[in-house]
Amino acid sequence: MANYEFLTEIEKYGRENKIPILLDETLDYITNKLSEIKPHRILEIGTAIGFSAINFSKYLDEGGRIDTIEIESLRVEQALENIEKVGVQDKIRVLEGDALDILPYLNEKYDVVFIDASKGKYNEFFEHALRLVKVGGWIIADNVLYKGMVMSDYNKHKQRTAVNKLRTFIDSVMENERLESELLEIGDGLTVSHVIK
Ligand SMILES: C[S@@+](CC[C@H](N)C(=O)[O-])C[C@H]1O[C@@H](n2cnc3c(N)ncnc32)[C@H](O)[C@@H]1O
Repeated sequence: MANYEFLTEIEKYGRENKIPILLDETLDYITNKLSEIKPHRILEIGTAIGFSAINFSKYLDEGGRIDTIEIESLRVEQALENIEKVGVQDKIRVLEGDALDILPYLNEKYDVVFIDASKGKYNEFFEHALRLVKVGGWIIADNVLYKGMVMSDYNKHKQRTAVNKLRTFIDSVMENERLESELLEIGDGLTVSHVIK
């Protein structure tokens, strides 16, 4: 039996230590969606300490599994510990490394691909997501409005490269003919795409 009560402690640790785990309203939106989709396979890019993956694991169908990728070894360690404490080791597989090195080796198809890692790499993550998602599945990306900077005219800050890449990402998502997409002002901005072909 999974002990999901431990999530409160994981969340507290994440917020107190400024680990960028999902904001409450983003988590609510995504978990509502997952409860409708009842996914069998989820791919997450950006595990951090496992907070989102553990939350998502509640909504998997029977025998379902999450693959989640994290580049920082300390976070991988913490995620594995948290996954074990909650007791969902059979539902979540953590892959350690740069997602751009790992994604080319993944070959199965996912019902949901969730992008939540380095903003400068969203365009590359998106190409892999398009390859790895099932028709009828979903691609969700968080932080696409990057603290409002993506929609602002001011472009002289040091994050401008990431901001420009996110603008390209949003355009690619919204224009892609395989997808029906929405850009939502939830949390730090979310794109939600249904894969229709
Ligand atoms: C926003 S946090 C993920 C939060 C997590 N999804 C949650 O809500 O609990 C982003 C994570 O992605 C990791 N990351 C950044 N670039 C990455 C990459 N290229 N490959 C894999 N992980 C990456 C960071 O180390 C960080 O832990």
